Amino acid sequence: MRIDKFLSDMAVASRKESSRAAKRGGILVNGTAVRDASVHINPDKDTVIYLGRTVEYRRHVFVMLNKPEGYVSATEDKAHPYVTELLPPELRARELFPVGRLDKDTVGLMLLTDDGESAHRLLSPKRHVTKSYRFRCAEPLIPSCEDIFLAGAVLGDGYVCKSAELIADEDRLGGVITLTEGKYHQIKRMLGSVGNKITALERITFGPLSLDGALARGEWRYLTEGETEELLLAAGADKRN
Ligand code: URA
Repeated sequence: MRIDKFLSDMAVASRKESSRAAKRGGILVNGTAVRDASVHINPDKDTVIYLGRTVEYRRHVFVMLNKPEGYVSATEDKAHPYVTELLPPELRARELFPVGRLDKDTVGLMLLTDDGESAHRLLSPKRHVTKSYRFRCAEPLIPSCEDIFLAGAVLGDGYVCKSAELIADEDRLGGVITLTEGKYHQIKRMLGSVGNKITALERITFGPLSLDGALARGEWRYLTEGETEELLLAAGADKRN
């Protein structure tokens, strides 16, 4: 693989930036400066240092997005804005997709990747990957709400939810719910099952990841090396993904 493609795939530098850096001696391959970014490397074997930083090779990209209201969890939509529109062209070219869905009016942590296998594992009911949501609701939560959710809320269609943790706010007009599954409109329907209604919903964790408070709505960033490893561990996947 060409060095400039490797660096742009790892989202480290554009091809133009790589070419400039190489001319200035800013790219080392196995300790030797390469002056031409079109040189080929073996990303599994060669060590590449870009402007003093070792670049780890990952076949796949993982991105955390702070989803704003009004966007649908899709890679295309004719009628509504969709989440991948918030990514730059180089990531859209890699055909990233959202791992699971958030409703159009739900905000917060959305994970996007081009790693279909890990996405599938992260969403598999067998893995019990937890997701937490901060919410506000229209009425005070009934006193037995925590116990009902822990025992498994029964939705309108008779589905019995998996045990979920509820930590209510002091005013009982909101709180944090942690789920290990992701059924359609699950939290809205759980609140409906106890005679309540969601007025605001934000996902704040996904497995080992927490929504980065430095990201404004609509902003995104790559997962760090550590976050990616923890996520892949939660997915039960090979570390070197
Ligand atoms: N539960 C919901 O009701 N909506 C979401 O977007 C996520 C969980």
